[in-house]
Amino acid sequence: MNAQRTMTAAVLVEPGKFEVKQVAIPRIGPNDVLVKVSQIGICGTDIHMFHGRYAADALPLIPGHEFCGTIDAVGSDVTHLSVGTTVVADINIGCGNCYWCRRNEVLNCAEVSQIGIGRDGAFAEYVAVPARLVIPAPAEVAPEVLALTEPVGCVVRAAKKAGIGVGDSVVVLGAGPIGNLHVQMMRLVGAAPIIVFDLSTSRCEAALAAGADVIVTDPAKLKDAVLAATDGVGADFVIESVGNARLYSTAFDLIRKGGHVSFFGITGPQDTVDLPILGTVLHENGLKGSVAAMGEDMYQALKLLTHQRFDVKAFTGAVFPLAEIQEAFESLPKRSNDLKTQLRVS
Ligand SMILES: NC(=O)c1ccc[n+]([C@@H]2O[C@H](COP(=O)([O-])OP(=O)(O)OC[C@H]3O[C@@H](n4cnc5c(N)ncnc54)[C@H](O)[C@@H]3O)[C@@H](O)[C@H]2O)c1
Ligand SMILES: [Zn+2]
Ligand SMILES: [Zn+2]
Repeated sequence: MNAQRTMTAAVLVEPGKFEVKQVAIPRIGPNDVLVKVSQIGICGTDIHMFHGRYAADALPLIPGHEFCGTIDAVGSDVTHLSVGTTVVADINIGCGNCYWCRRNEVLNCAEVSQIGIGRDGAFAEYVAVPARLVIPAPAEVAPEVLALTEPVGCVVRAAKKAGIGVGDSVVVLGAGPIGNLHVQMMRLVGAAPIIVFDLSTSRCEAALAAGADVIVTDPAKLKDAVLAATDGVGADFVIESVGNARLYSTAFDLIRKGGHVSFFGITGPQDTVDLPILGTVLHENGLKGSVAAMGEDMYQALKLLTHQRFDVKAFTGAVFPLAEIQEAFESLPKRSNDLKTQLRVS
C-alpha cells in the first residue's frame, strides 16, 4: 500500500540539522493504521535529540511523538477504526503480551520502542501506528489541544503513580512546560497547597497563573517556604520536574516524615541520590517513579483536555509550519515564554 507515494518529512539527519524532504510514506502492516498528521508538539525529548544528547545513534530519524491527526488508511486486519477518524496515539509499542505490557508498564518490556524516538515519528505528513495504540478523539477539539494529550498524559500518570489526592501538599520542583502541567494536574486532584520552585521568575509567574499557591525562586528560601506553607511539617509530596540530581536530594529534604518523592525529571544515566536508609524506614518515606503516558493515562488525558480541565493558552501560542522546523528549534532559547512550540502539518 502507498509504495510509490512520497510525503514531506522533517528528518533529523544529524544533531542540530533537520532536512525537510520527500521520503516514502510509511508502509503499514495488517494491524497498523496510517495517520495523516495535523498538529504536533515539540517535546523536551525532541530538543535533547536535536542537540545530540539523546538517541544520537538512532539518526537519521523522523522524530515527533506529541501528535494528532486523522486516519488515512487502515491495515487489512483492522476492523475497529475507519478512515477519516480524528485520533491521537499512545506512542509506546510493547510486545503486548509480557508481564510488563499486561501491567501497563510498557517501557519495561524487553521489546519496547517509542514512536518518534526509537522509530520514525510524526514530524511528517504521515506516521504509521499500531491500531491498538490509536485513540479516537472528538473531531471538534482543536488540533493544538489534541496535540497536548501525550504531555498531559505524563502528568496524569505521575499523579496516579504517586497517589496524590485531596488536601495533599505538593511541591513541584521546576516550572517548565511539564512543571506547569503538573501544577494544573495538582489542582485537578485537589492538592493543597501547591508550592512551585524554579530559578526563573517568569516560569514561576506562569506557575502562579496555572494555579500554584506559593512560588519560590531563591533556593535559600525554599525549605522555609515549604515549612511555612505546611504548618511546619513539610510536604506530603515533592515532584522533581527538572532532571537535576541535586534537586532530587533537595526533594527528600522537603517532604514531611512519611512523605513521598515523585521521580519524574530525567537525569543523566549515571546520576544517583544518597538516601538515609534508617530515616526512610522509620519515617515510612517513599519514592515513586513515573515515566511517559501509557494506555489508560492517554485516555484520561484526552478526557481532561476534551472537557477543558486544562488551561492550554500558554501552550498553544507558538505554532510553526512543518517546513520551518529548523527555525522552530533554533529559536527555542529566545522564546522561553512559550511553554510549548507546535508544528502545523496539515
Ligand atoms: N517522567 C516522565 O514521564 C517525563 C515526561 C516528560 C518530561 N520529563 C522530564 O521532566 C523534566 C521537566 O520537563 P520540561 O519539559 O518542563 O523541562 P524544561 O527543561 O523545559 O524545564 C525545566 C525547568 O526547570 C528550571 N530549572 C532548571 N534548573 C533548575 C534548578 N537547579 N532549580 C530550579 N529550577 C530549575 C528551568 O528554569 C525550567 O523552567 C525534564 O527532566 C524532562 O526530561 C519526564
Ligand atoms: Zn513528549
Ligand atoms: Zn511486552
